[in-house]
Amino acid sequence: MTAFTLPALTLATSCPRDADVVIVGVAESAGAPVLVGVPDEVDQRAAKLYGRPLLKVVRDLGAEARPGGTVTLAGADGVRIIAVGLGETDVTPEQVRRAAGTGVRAAAALAGDRPLHVALCLDAVEPEVVKGAAEGALLGAYRFVKLSGKEPKPAIGSVTVVSSSAKPEARRAVEVARTVATAVCLARDWVNTPANVLYPETFAEAAKTAAKGTRIDVEVLDDKALERGGYGGLTAVGGGSSRGPRLVRFGYAPRGAKTHLALVGKGITFDTGGLNLKPSEGMYTMKCDMAGAAAVLAATRAIAQLGLKVRVTAYAAMAENMPSGTAYRPSDVLTMYGGSTVENVNSDAEGRLVMADALARAGEDSPDLILDVATLTGACMVALGERVAGLMASDDAAADHVLDAAESAGEAFWQLPIPDGTRKKLDSKVADLRSGGNRYGGALTAAAFLHHFVPDGTPWAHLDIAGPAFNDDGPYDYVPTGGTGMAVRTLVALAQSLQS
Ligand code: BES
Ligand code: MN
Ligand code: ZN
Repeated sequence: MTAFTLPALTLATSCPRDADVVIVGVAESAGAPVLVGVPDEVDQRAAKLYGRPLLKVVRDLGAEARPGGTVTLAGADGVRIIAVGLGETDVTPEQVRRAAGTGVRAAAALAGDRPLHVALCLDAVEPEVVKGAAEGALLGAYRFVKLSGKEPKPAIGSVTVVSSSAKPEARRAVEVARTVATAVCLARDWVNTPANVLYPETFAEAAKTAAKGTRIDVEVLDDKALERGGYGGLTAVGGGSSRGPRLVRFGYAPRGAKTHLALVGKGITFDTGGLNLKPSEGMYTMKCDMAGAAAVLAATRAIAQLGLKVRVTAYAAMAENMPSGTAYRPSDVLTMYGGSTVENVNSDAEGRLVMADALARAGEDSPDLILDVATLTGACMVALGERVAGLMASDDAAADHVLDAAESAGEAFWQLPIPDGTRKKLDSKVADLRSGGNRYGGALTAAAFLHHFVPDGTPWAHLDIAGPAFNDDGPYDYVPTGGTGMAVRTLVALAQSLQS
């Protein structure tokens, strides 16, 4: 089910002689483009080939520092040079990550029969920049392997990150980048796998497989166990499908860890809307509705592989939202895990119901922080667009902690409020609360609903990744079409920040 192969990744202090493609940077100095990271040899031999400096050649070809732009030209001896825009000033790790992704995607387009060896020469010195370069290259090289059984030849066989620093910190940065990028691509593969192949049972199996060889212990509750256990949200939402729901728990508890992070992910393997059926346009991409679950599982795997000294318990709430004779109805009252009753107002607001069960279960472990990740609302997309995710939290300290982790990971989140009075919009005449409010502030009412299932006083943050989880707008930077792996990097960075 997950079939991606990433290029081999190495760190070197000089440009390898056998590189097929050399990626260099274009920055801006005093209003004019300048080249960054060009290896002396490549520079000199290209100058000889063209009879003028490489910088002049790439300028004539229209190279700009503008991010996203590339210029490709022949170097000496069959080497190809790709000059990629790094942005204007103060190059951040994320700018380098994006440039590396753009460069590697341009390199992949040059591949013939044989996988290419790419040298990434972006003058990365600081460990965080080396990490950005390595991550961007691997993420940009990702391709989903078609479900035809035929493996396409990988376009990029290996990437060498060229850095003048060979310090242990730089080596460690490359190792971390490899682990994190692998987790992001695992999440992408799961999201891209269609719902007739990846459904709760097979998703749970894939999760088990992903935990093999790590120190993660796995628990899977199947539909019968969920019914017995009183998981009314998962049971109701999953009840409309012939493929029953699952709750997967990943437990990682390294010795000496003092902090306990709980993660909860929405794992709707397909969201038809249920009896409140979605229109055709809205339904097509809904295999992505398990991206939150994919993110928390893949991130926990990376956290365990990195041996981070923080306890992590991740819950993935998996169900398929289908209309049928056994589907749950608008106006049904459900008894959730923990005993709260919920009046369902719209069967397309299914995510919060499966999340409620998993949040209540996660709260039982008394974690120090609960972070949930969900493709929860179209309203969040209306507010923030396709590239920025929403963040709502119990308090500003929790929000800031997650925002800092996101910043260091290079992922875009924007805090939205849960204004006073929001919870009141969820008052019900027949149950403890209803599952939705009116048509205003849909992302905020959804967050207020989730907050009800978090134990009082437990710091909690909620990431609504409905926009950025799935890219149906064409590739850019290191982001391919389809599943993006959004939130994986932030979750790993957050775990890093919580280490003992
Ligand atoms: N899975 C959707 C949200 C979504 C929309 C994710 C677009 C990714 C892209 C969610 O289950 C949903 O349908 N939400 C409804 C809630 C409403 C019925 C209260 C929505 O946002 O319209
Ligand atoms: Mn829905
Ligand atoms: Zn959904």
